[in-house]
Amino acid sequence: MNDDLKTYLRQQAGIFDRYLGQYYRRSESDPEEPLEILQQSMAYSLLAGGKRLRPILAMGSCRLFDGDLERVLPVALAIEMVHTYSLIHDDLPAMDDDNFRRGIPTNHKVYGEGMAILAGDALLTDAFGFLAGAETLTESTRLELVRGLSRAAGSTGMVAGQAIDLYCEGRADVSREILFDLHRRKTGAMITFSVLAGGMVAGARTEDLERLETYGRSIGLAFQVADDVLDETGTEAELGKDAGSDREKDKLTSVSLLGLEQSRVLLEELVQEAVEALKPYGERAARLRQLAEYIAVRKN
Ligand code: IPE
Ligand code: IPE
Ligand code: MG
Ligand code: MG
Ligand code: MG
Repeated sequence: MNDDLKTYLRQQAGIFDRYLGQYYRRSESDPEEPLEILQQSMAYSLLAGGKRLRPILAMGSCRLFDGDLERVLPVALAIEMVHTYSLIHDDLPAMDDDNFRRGIPTNHKVYGEGMAILAGDALLTDAFGFLAGAETLTESTRLELVRGLSRAAGSTGMVAGQAIDLYCEGRADVSREILFDLHRRKTGAMITFSVLAGGMVAGARTEDLERLETYGRSIGLAFQVADDVLDETGTEAELGKDAGSDREKDKLTSVSLLGLEQSRVLLEELVQEAVEALKPYGERAARLRQLAEYIAVRKN
């Protein structure tokens, strides 16, 4: 990854984190009240860092169509809240049973399983309230975004993907189609929505939204292929989360079905597909193109 891209990613994450900091703060006190504990457990996972890729994608596609930052930031926050909830629940003993996330112990290791479930519930629910009240957006845009986020996250999107993920643990009778469906839902749907949301708040035309969707679907799938490769090849220190967790759980992943080499080939193809979808925008889409390339070379 070149220095320019590194700087861009750091700057964009910084913009998002400053906005997030207006709503969530780490408290230094030792909380005793249940509401304080809940607030603290939500802030614990939200403020633990993370790449902020979904906010960065939303900001990037918004900028491509000359949209304002004030309009996209509330959507980016709602998306990151839903994403963070999905990570907290994904790590629970009943799901992937992992110990580390974003470089620190998983939420349930610190706050207990019950509170971790509730922190996730609260982040998910609050995200929709926050989006519905985002005054920099028109009411009709808010409604469209609420519907889009619900679809991306809910029973046909991310949660459906998580259900398929659990169902496929330890199964041998799986196909590429099932694997891609799993990836598209559990990870691709939220990533595609992040890209689309930026275009929507910027008032992009239908044909532009269609191109963004093609780009989003390719990088969404690529992102999970890369995640599976990293689970196999990365270390806990690099990833900031458990390594080798998929093999241990006998998960259906790109690596388990296709092997490392084929997964890497697929990753390259998907990035090319994404880059192709941006062709009509030429150099104006340089950042989105670099973000697609980044997904394949990232180390965490
Ligand atoms: C991890 O997402 C979960 C997947 C969808 C693979 P990220 O790799 O974006 O996690 P953070 O937000 O950077 O922690
Ligand atoms: C989870 O996929 C995707 C989510 C919807 C959270 P993984 O289980 O592979 O994500 P990691 O590897 O734990 O981050
Ligand atoms: Mg999982
Ligand atoms: Mg997991
Ligand atoms: Mg993984």
